[in-house]
Amino acid sequence: MKPNQDMLIPLAENKSSVMVLLKSETSTAHRQLERNRSLSRLFQSDYSILEYQELIGKFYGFFSAIEPLIFNDVKIGNSQVLRHRSKTASLASDLALLGVNGSMLTASPCCENLPLLDSFARRMGAFYVLEGSTLGGRIISKRLKEHFGESILDKLNYYQSYGDDLMTEWAAFQHFMANHFDGKTSEITEVVSAATETFSCLDSWLQKA
Ligand code: HEM
Repeated sequence: MKPNQDMLIPLAENKSSVMVLLKSETSTAHRQLERNRSLSRLFQSDYSILEYQELIGKFYGFFSAIEPLIFNDVKIGNSQVLRHRSKTASLASDLALLGVNGSMLTASPCCENLPLLDSFARRMGAFYVLEGSTLGGRIISKRLKEHFGESILDKLNYYQSYGDDLMTEWAAFQHFMANHFDGKTSEITEVVSAATETFSCLDSWLQKA
């Protein structure tokens, strides 16, 4: 049988694991992003729907700029494991339901300060950050449901990406990454460096008024 490159290949003990390194090397950048006011405000008692709309608008400005650079990669665009993972459309649906119409969306600013994505490894490092945001989404959508009640349920398309399949999708993504990068030290360095830069670019973008 022809080996499927998206299936998990066991990691030899002496090789480096890309997912372990990504998690450990970007944990400081993740914590810093969580402290960004536009995200920490999500947990305040006076959080408003307008702030939520602004946050989703900022994410749209970031994802709509960076995703084409990632998905235009042939390996990513053709991969069964990756190609359905774009979040730009979910963000646009949430914005539409929050009252942002098509022309407002077209006129809204896009992030221009993006990480260098000049290799497959670097594009996958950025992809890891976008994909991982769905994990925190579980906590955030629970919080938003408690805070806003039923009226928010249909406006959580981005934060509820994959629904009940979230952990299955995350496991498939982890396997894809492991199969492509485990044991390849110099490529892992590129993946981690691009992921760290992506966290930092998003942090700066969210801080902009
Ligand atoms: C207030 C905002 C956030 C909270 C509370 C949060 C929380 C979390 C939590 C609890 C996890 C671990 C989930 C698990 O292991 O099952 C996680 C993972 C992750 N989050 Fe966030 N997150 C937030 C924002 C973000 C944002 C905005 C991004 C990027 C756009 C992001 C990227 C990631 C990544 C890449 C991981 C995977 C870490 C790993 O390798 O396991 N997070 N987040």
